Amino acid sequence: MAKEVAWWKHAVIYQIYPLSFKDSNGDGIGDIQGIREKLDYLKNLGVDVIWLSPIYLSPMDDNGYDISNYQEINPMFGTKEDLKHLLDEVHEKGMKLIMDLVINHTSDEHPWFIQAKSSKDNPYRDYYIWKDEPNLITSVFGGPAWTKDQTTNQYYFHLFSSRQPDLNWRNPKLRSDIYQMINDWLDFGIDGFRLDVIDLIGKDIDHYQLSDGPYFETYLQELHQNCFQNRKIMTVGETPGLSINRAAEISHQGLLDMVFQFTHIGLDEVPNQGKWALKALDLVEFKHVFMTLQKTMFNHGWNSLFLANHDQPRAVSRYGNLKYRKESATMLATILYGMQGTPFVYQGEEIGMTGVQYDIQQYQDIETKKIYQILKQKGISEDEIMRSIHAKSRDNSRTPFQWNHQPHAGFSSAKPWLDVNPNYIEVNAENDLLDDFSVYSFFKKLFEIRKAYQVFTDGDFDLIQPNHPKLFIYQRKNVNDTMLVIGSFSSEPQEVNLFISEEPKSLLISNYPDHAIKDLMILPPYYAAIIRIGEINHANH
Ligand code: GLC
Ligand code: CA
Repeated sequence: MAKEVAWWKHAVIYQIYPLSFKDSNGDGIGDIQGIREKLDYLKNLGVDVIWLSPIYLSPMDDNGYDISNYQEINPMFGTKEDLKHLLDEVHEKGMKLIMDLVINHTSDEHPWFIQAKSSKDNPYRDYYIWKDEPNLITSVFGGPAWTKDQTTNQYYFHLFSSRQPDLNWRNPKLRSDIYQMINDWLDFGIDGFRLDVIDLIGKDIDHYQLSDGPYFETYLQELHQNCFQNRKIMTVGETPGLSINRAAEISHQGLLDMVFQFTHIGLDEVPNQGKWALKALDLVEFKHVFMTLQKTMFNHGWNSLFLANHDQPRAVSRYGNLKYRKESATMLATILYGMQGTPFVYQGEEIGMTGVQYDIQQYQDIETKKIYQILKQKGISEDEIMRSIHAKSRDNSRTPFQWNHQPHAGFSSAKPWLDVNPNYIEVNAENDLLDDFSVYSFFKKLFEIRKAYQVFTDGDFDLIQPNHPKLFIYQRKNVNDTMLVIGSFSSEPQEVNLFISEEPKSLLISNYPDHAIKDLMILPPYYAAIIRIGEINHANH
């Protein structure tokens, strides 16, 4: 008997960054009503699940990843009723909706923190982490992870901004309040969560163990038992510090359905020097990391497939080539979504949106502003700082969605909260929807193909020519099918011998559709294709 495959293994997930998706009321800020206007656009692309970055009440120090009330919706995005309407419409259209869940920390404006810092013996004191003397842990955004509270003369711990105090997961009362809140949202009808930096909840600060700390699995188990099990939902954990093996274990045990594992994301950074120290990507290394991910999770856990999100630069600017924008955007999608795992699309990726190179005053992101000051103080040259910021700032992917060539890219009738990428006249959804060979049309076709052939879900993975420095070629194979997935990471033509002359072959998709499939091929810049080989044409036998 066929085993039932979990629904989220076939799903295409689309991340919406609500601030920048669509503004419906002309205040320059994206909102829930704006999302409702665009559901058909998403459905038509082949999206099954929408993931919303945080829309809860927040002072927006970190764009909503600093929550001051988990139960309420930030009025800049709309109301809880708007959300209910959105959820109902998403369901009517046969899609699902998952929400971001930020439970490693809250905003400093959360009532828990306001209580906690009011006195040392307040019942909420122990909801956060306090010390008389700080240790040497630094914040992800730069500077110390401890800030002194003047009222009670102790330091509180914050791995992100000083306005994002970390919750004390060692406190069972805190954990039970969190579970209650999660269950309320699930009862509201949402279909699951993306769990923000969830690998940090089991930390042991005294021993400098942050990610995957000693209590991580215990708390995940408890969370799973109290909230997730027996519900037909999906969960994906953001786990920047988790190793590939641990990522496989956690999803294999079903504590989370899958996680975002980040090894491939760190490969254009100088090791151990953080994201701003740039290094050229070595494609061979990149391919080997993906091979390890694919092989480790084959029949043992489940992968999430992503190159971009609201924290990462645009994939096409990072791994592709803007001279070949369409070719490289479609090539990257082919390579990524041909693999085993659940595909994630970050808004705008499907029309090949690119990064920006703004002046420092134009940036809004707290991390970017902070690192600019820190690097300045260290005496690093303005040029070098801006080179890093242009390459890596989180605002690269947060610029407003480019809907059309109207003012403000059709995102809003007013000046948006963050400047629109000036290339919106050429790069926009309206253009892409009219063009059968656009990036959008390619993504759509790619998702159709993924869903038409089971091999993309259950086939094994093997690199072909693993040490080729410019070509990323792999094979997916199950009992019925063999697929060859080809991507060129080069702006020069690349010769390749595919050794498939003996067998019938058919071209399922290519970003150069007229390029004939032969055994020996010269691949044009950023070429991509999926070829089905070993297919038997019964009519001829
Ligand atoms: C995650 C979010 C990021 C946020 C951080 C702190 O990494 O994706 O945007 O700044 O957590 O919540
Ligand atoms: Ca608005």
